[in-house]
Amino acid sequence: MKSTPEISDTVILTFCNNKGGVGKTSLAILTVLYALKRNVRTLLIDLDPQGNATRALLPDAVSFEQEGFFGIPQLARLVLDRVPTEDLIRAFRENIVVADGIPFVPNDIRSAIMEKELNSLEAVLFLRKMRGALEDYRLVVVDTPPHLGGFLWSALCASTHVIIPVDLHFFSFWGLRNVLQTIEDARAVNPELKLAGILINRYRKRLRNAHEYLARYEETFGPKLLKNRMPDAAGVEVCIRRRDIRQSYLGKLYERTMRVLQEILERTGVL
Ligand SMILES: Nc1ncnc2c1ncn2[C@@H]1O[C@H](COP(=O)(O)OP(=O)(O)O)[C@@H](O)[C@H]1O
Ligand SMILES: [Mg+2]
Repeated sequence: MKSTPEISDTVILTFCNNKGGVGKTSLAILTVLYALKRNVRTLLIDLDPQGNATRALLPDAVSFEQEGFFGIPQLARLVLDRVPTEDLIRAFRENIVVADGIPFVPNDIRSAIMEKELNSLEAVLFLRKMRGALEDYRLVVVDTPPHLGGFLWSALCASTHVIIPVDLHFFSFWGLRNVLQTIEDARAVNPELKLAGILINRYRKRLRNAHEYLARYEETFGPKLLKNRMPDAAGVEVCIRRRDIRQSYLGKLYERTMRVLQEILERTGVL
């Protein structure tokens, strides 16, 4: 097994935006579904204490939570208890669930309190310490909370790539500067982190002021914008609920969706 990050070919891709509802969770899950379809060894980490990705992949998550600490709450507790790194790596592997062929590390609201207890160094190291286990995969996709706390910081400090999903609304454009600044700050700790791109999500031609905003994004961010835009498609939710990307779920938006997902994997060097 590879021992140093430098020679690892593991891509750790974080979906990040401190605005909620822009599609971080949906795009993270779709990317994982697509990568698995392309036979890429892939893992999803749900770092959001809201546990939306976990609930999507594990509809009976409530009963699962009652069985005791598992997933991110368990790993956060071990970090707070300062267990040695090799124990953390072992625990990480033990806290992976496979549902319908999708390996992921689940999360639930109990990790919210622990996130607040992590000091800044523990936050930086939270995922980095588990890299030995991340390297079992070719692609690790991280879904993050919509606020800049310990978990998002931890994801940025451990990742090789970040994608920022945005929607074409007024506040998204201005909020993006803060997100880019956060990524810049994380680079001081993790110089390996690359911006794989800004992804316009839920694109519709007929969206109010769409052309105006699109022009502004293109002018300001140029090649940082993904060439393909994720269409606004009711089928996205269907794909996630059924854990499969199918033409019959997406209809005429299928090809466009597939092009976005392919571009994500190309920009991160996975394909
Ligand atoms: N491309 C899309 N087309 C249609 N609906 C979408 C799309 N992306 C996200 N959504 C919907 O928007 C809502 C918010 O998405 P979500 O992925 O939870 O965002 P976030 O994780 O950033 O809060 C969800 O109801 C989701 O189904
Ligand atoms: Mg989310």
